[in-house]
Parts: sequence; structure tokens; C-alpha cells
Amino acid sequence: MALQAGLESLDPLSIERSKTVELEGVHFPIELVENWGLVWDFKAQPDDLLICTYPKAGTTWTQEIVDMLQHGGDPKKCARAPIYQRIPLIELFLPKPLPSGLEVAEAMPSPRTLKSHLQIQLLPPSFWEQNCKIIYVARNAKDNAVSYFHFHRMNKLMPEPGNWDQYLENFLNGKIAWGSWFDHVRGWWEAKDRHPILYLFYEDMKEDPAGEIQKIAQFLEIDIQEAVLNQIVQHTKFENMKANPMANYSTMPPSLLDHAVSPFMRKGTVGDWKEHFTVAQSEQMDDVCARELEGSGLFFRTEL
Ligand code: A3P
Repeated sequence: MALQAGLESLDPLSIERSKTVELEGVHFPIELVENWGLVWDFKAQPDDLLICTYPKAGTTWTQEIVDMLQHGGDPKKCARAPIYQRIPLIELFLPKPLPSGLEVAEAMPSPRTLKSHLQIQLLPPSFWEQNCKIIYVARNAKDNAVSYFHFHRMNKLMPEPGNWDQYLENFLNGKIAWGSWFDHVRGWWEAKDRHPILYLFYEDMKEDPAGEIQKIAQFLEIDIQEAVLNQIVQHTKFENMKANPMANYSTMPPSLLDHAVSPFMRKGTVGDWKEHFTVAQSEQMDDVCARELEGSGLFFRTEL
């Protein structure tokens, strides 16, 4: 079944919030764990490009930038389908009969651009065997946690987040879907010099979008003229992506993603965490970050 047609005919009664279970010590939605063998056996191809992130670190933004770069900065070509179809999340299992992310990926012509939120040790081995290029984007833990909290609220397939205090406790303990933010950002950071991995930061993208887009272009060996670069900067500005139905997830049924609860394109800023964290919570997060990232050389900015 085609993804978009399936989404449009989805029975709202078939939608239930998931729960997480552990797979090799990492929490995931149960549907993913039940199908883990299929994900692990995924056959990457040498010309696959993977965009990998902890959920809510700026994946969609990076996807749209990459798609624009791959299509000469032509917004019409990037409007061919919603972003989740142009660049599928390989480990996504939606209610049946909707196709899985694997099925969408397998039906794509090469060269494919794919998306994953897996921690590095759980990435299907074929990506390493094929030496695929990977773009990793990390976002500071405080803003990432806030964004993920609101995403849990609006995405009716995600586990119930509870209130902010309960949710933050689970975030700090890695007891949320896709596991510990700390293990995620650190694992990918430590691997970045051993593989073709471009490691980017959401905060840098906010501060200097043109510079970071150029880094991506260089990594992908795409030459871009200044006019195209400017076009991509404009097209991928938060306000423009928020208004773009092919990028803002408004093509998903509201029974699945309820933008009235919290829009997918919510704030798109650095520092919104200040509206959510108490002083004690902020200090606790600083302590956990310092402990978990110690010795890694990994540093995050929480304001610009
Ligand atoms: P907020 O919830 O803080 O607003 P992902 O794509 O990984 O799910 O991440 C979603 C987060 O990235 C949301 O953060 C969303 O608003 C933000 N985002 C999406 N597009 C963006 C853009 N063009 N510029 C800045 N932030 C963007």
C-alpha cells in the first residue's frame, strides 16, 4: 500500500499509543522491537546517504536541506512528496496496513537518502559494510528534551509522556523511545573520525545556516553557486518550512499527529528550554551532561 494513500484512509480507531521495551539496553517502541530482525538485516547500498539524529534534533530541517542540495535548490522538485516519504525513517513501524519505513526505503530508486534515530551500535551493519555517508545532527539536551516532550504529546503513536517533571526524569534515565540522549550523541561523536560521518549541531545551523549548508554540500561533493545557496537558506528557514505542507507534517492525519496539541514545527529556536526547566532541573541536567559527556570533547551550547 502506498504510504500517503494509506495515511489518508487510516482508521483513527486503529491508533493506539505505543509503549517502550528494551532492546540491548535501549528503550524503543514495542513495534520496532518486535520487528528488529528486519531492521538489522536492512541492505544498505553504497550510494545510500543516511541522516541520523536523536529524535527532535533537527532531522526534518536537515532532510529538507539535503533534498534541496540534491535537486539544485529547486523547491518544486522538493514538493514532489511529503518529507517522510522522500526520506523515510527506516525503523518506523506504523499501524498495518501502512508500509513500514523499510518497505518505503526498499521501493526507492537509487541513490537513496534515508533517515534513522538508532544509536550507533544498533545501526544495521550493512551501512558500515557499504561505507555509506552519514550526516549526524545533535542538539543540546535541554532543547532536545523539551521538543521531544511536546512531540510525545502531539504524536498519538508515542508513549504517554506524563507531565513535564515525569517526562524529564525518564529523559535523564534514557527511559524513552530511542533511549538515552547522552549515549546517542556520544556514541556517534566517538565514531565520527573512523567513518564518513559529518557531525553537525543544531545550534550551529541556527547561527550560520549558510555555512552549515555549505559544509553539507562539501560532504556530499555538490558544487553550489551562491544564488542556489541563498535559495536553500530561504527555503529551509523555520517560518518557510512551517508554512510548507511538504515539510511540516500537516499531510499526516490529525488522528496521528495532532498539531492542535502542539505543532510539529513548534518554535525552532535555541533556548526555549528556559520556558520549561526549573532552576533545579537545569542544574540537574548540567550535572548529568557533565558526567555523561566527560572526556568526550563534546560540547553543547544551550543559548546563542
Ligand atoms: P522545536 O520543537 O524546539 O520547535 P525533528 O525534525 O528532528 O523531529 O526536530 C524537530 C525540531 O526541529 C522542532 O523543534 C522543530 O520546530 C525544529 N525545526 C524544524 N525545522 C526547522 C528549521 N527549518 N529551523 C529550525 N528549527 C527547525
